[in-house]
Amino acid sequence: AAATKGGYDFYMLKEIAEQPQAVADTLLSRFPDLSLDEVRKVVIIACGTAYHAGMIAGYAIEQWARIPCDVELASEFRYKDPILDASTLVIAISQSGETMDTLMALRHAKAQGARVLAICNTNGSTIPRESDAVLYTHGGPEIAVASTKAFLTQLVACYQVGLRLGAARGFSHADVTAALRAVPDQLRALLTRTDEIRELAYDLATARQVLFIGRHVGYPVALEGALKLKELAYMHAEGFAAGELKHGPIALIDEGTPVICVLPAPGDPLHGKVVSNIQEVRARGARTIVIAEEGDETIVPFADDVIRVPVTPALLAPLMTTVPMQILACEIAAARGHDVDQPRNLAKSVTVE
Ligand code: G6P
Repeated sequence: AAATKGGYDFYMLKEIAEQPQAVADTLLSRFPDLSLDEVRKVVIIACGTAYHAGMIAGYAIEQWARIPCDVELASEFRYKDPILDASTLVIAISQSGETMDTLMALRHAKAQGARVLAICNTNGSTIPRESDAVLYTHGGPEIAVASTKAFLTQLVACYQVGLRLGAARGFSHADVTAALRAVPDQLRALLTRTDEIRELAYDLATARQVLFIGRHVGYPVALEGALKLKELAYMHAEGFAAGELKHGPIALIDEGTPVICVLPAPGDPLHGKVVSNIQEVRARGARTIVIAEEGDETIVPFADDVIRVPVTPALLAPLMTTVPMQILACEIAAARGHDVDQPRNLAKSVTVE
């Protein structure tokens, strides 16, 4: 059936709203028949938003399975002459399954003797066909060029791979499995209170630049937030590892520069560090917009705006913290009068190298 906007102004808003169901469906995805016992190293290859999902997967796989995991931009992968063999599991992440950079990286990995697992949203597309196994995400068709529900479902699939790799090595993470089951309802709750983000978007639409900071899994979320804003609003936006600010990027901050900060949960060892990073940018005039867990009051004195997200285990937090970034980018682009679903110069699926 042809996709319709179903009452939304943009496909992107519709697809953002579909995320709870897409995540629920992907949690039920059939895991492929693939032996994970001999995996000594994992390499993830992907482009764009899928690459950011891969970065987050890297943290989860190393933490849960204690297997070394490299995350590579597919377009760069072959040129570093990567070290691969039969004990390497390569994971190719692609919504479309047709991205040429990812396909060429996959072929290189196979030629070196590695096994390839595809994480893909498109049945029967080229990347899953050429892989040894495939774990499908169940996002349904994604029409908007900027990826939203595909990203969240890629994360869910990556988490499942991380848990399976952990199980193959005797680790059990029952707490994470339980927490994943709660995510669709938590996303539903998060999506009911987006009015504050809309208002904020209106404010930010005239900014000269917007910076994003985070640490650990909050760092790829910051990169993803910045990518969305570049793609849709054509604004200068950049994501940084918050600890790296002092080594250069803090020079970008002047009076009123919006800085969107991904704050870890209060119990997290990095919470205090990110709070310090937020204070540092604020002392230089930044307007601090903090994405914080519900109930975390410690940040209130240092935040000009607080966006609340539901409580999750640290590694799952990107499933929540990404959502306000998506809405923000969509609304800023709309406020600037851009075509949210069809940004200039971009294609949904890039089938050239
Ligand atoms: C294109 C799209 C991006 C997407 C990337 C990877 O550049 O504009 O939104 O993240 O390709 O796409 P894939 O289908 O491989 O996930």
